[in-house]
Amino acid sequence: MSTQPGEQKEPARSRRKVSILDLQKKKNNGQPITMLTAYDYPSALLVDQAGVDLILVGDSLAMVVLGLENTLAVTMDEMLHHARAVARGAKAAFLIGDMPFMSYQADVVEAVRNAGRFLKESGMDSVKLEGGHEVAPATRAIVNAGIPVMGHIGLTPQSISKLGGFRVQGKTAADARRLLDDALALEAAGCFAIVLEAVPAPVAEAISRRLRIPTIGIGAGPGCDGQVLVYHDLLGLFDRFTPKFVKQYANAGQAIHEALVAYVEDVAAGRFPAAEHTYPMDETELATFLSELEG
Ligand code: KIV
Repeated sequence: MSTQPGEQKEPARSRRKVSILDLQKKKNNGQPITMLTAYDYPSALLVDQAGVDLILVGDSLAMVVLGLENTLAVTMDEMLHHARAVARGAKAAFLIGDMPFMSYQADVVEAVRNAGRFLKESGMDSVKLEGGHEVAPATRAIVNAGIPVMGHIGLTPQSISKLGGFRVQGKTAADARRLLDDALALEAAGCFAIVLEAVPAPVAEAISRRLRIPTIGIGAGPGCDGQVLVYHDLLGLFDRFTPKFVKQYANAGQAIHEALVAYVEDVAAGRFPAAEHTYPMDETELATFLSELEG
C-alpha cells in the first residue's frame, strides 16, 4: 500500500446499486448492458469504478488466476473465497457468482444449497449456471428459493469435453434452433438474463429479439443486449491465448513486466530505496541510540 498512515485516498464517487429491474429497463430502452469479470478486491474496485452494470466472479478464474488448463477443477470453496474479495471491492454493480462444475449438475437440492452459499457466504446478488434445457429444473428451483439466476449457453466451457474444445456453437440451422429453444427454456425457468458465448452474430441477434430478458454476448456480436469480457483478456494479462472475439484495451501484462524489471534493477543497483522512501528520526534520539550501542 502506498497510502501513508493518516493520508486518505479520495473516496470513490458513489453510484446507486444496480438491480435486475435496471437491466430489464436497459433492454426495453435499447441501452447496452455492460458486464466484466473480476476475481479479487483490486479488480473489483477498478471494474466497479469504471461503471459496469454487472460483475461476474467467473469460473474462468481457474484459468486466468489459478493457471489451470480449463475450468473443471475449481471448487465451490475456491469460488466463494474469490467472490468474498470481489464483494468487498464492488459496491454498485450487480454481482454474479459462477456456479462451478458439479456444484449444480448432479442434484437439484445440492444446486439450491450451493447457490445459496454464494449469497449467504460471499455477498453475491445472484448466480450463473451453464447449460440449456437440462439445467432448467435446477434453475427453477434456485429461482424459487429467491436467488436470481443468469443462464449461459453456446460455448459452455464446463462441457468442453462434450463440445470437443473451445469452438463456436450454433453454426448450423438445427444447432441455432436448439440454442433458441434452450434460451426460451431458461427464460421460462426464471433466468433474469442469459450469456451467449461464441455464437454467430445473426443467431445471437435472433435469440435476443425473441427473448423478453436481456442477453449478454461474449463472441456473439453486437445484436445482444449487453457485452461481457474477461478482465485478464481485456487488459492483456492472460499469457496463454487471446480468443478472436476479445478486444484488448491495454497491454497491462507488458506494463507490469517493465515495472517489475525496473524494480529488480533499481534494488540491484542500490537506487531503491532513496532518501524519500525512508523514515527520518529525531537527531538527538538517534545520537543517544548510537552512543548507547557503542558504550
Ligand atoms: O467464467 C467466465 O468468465 C464466464 C464468462 C466468459 C461469461 O463465464
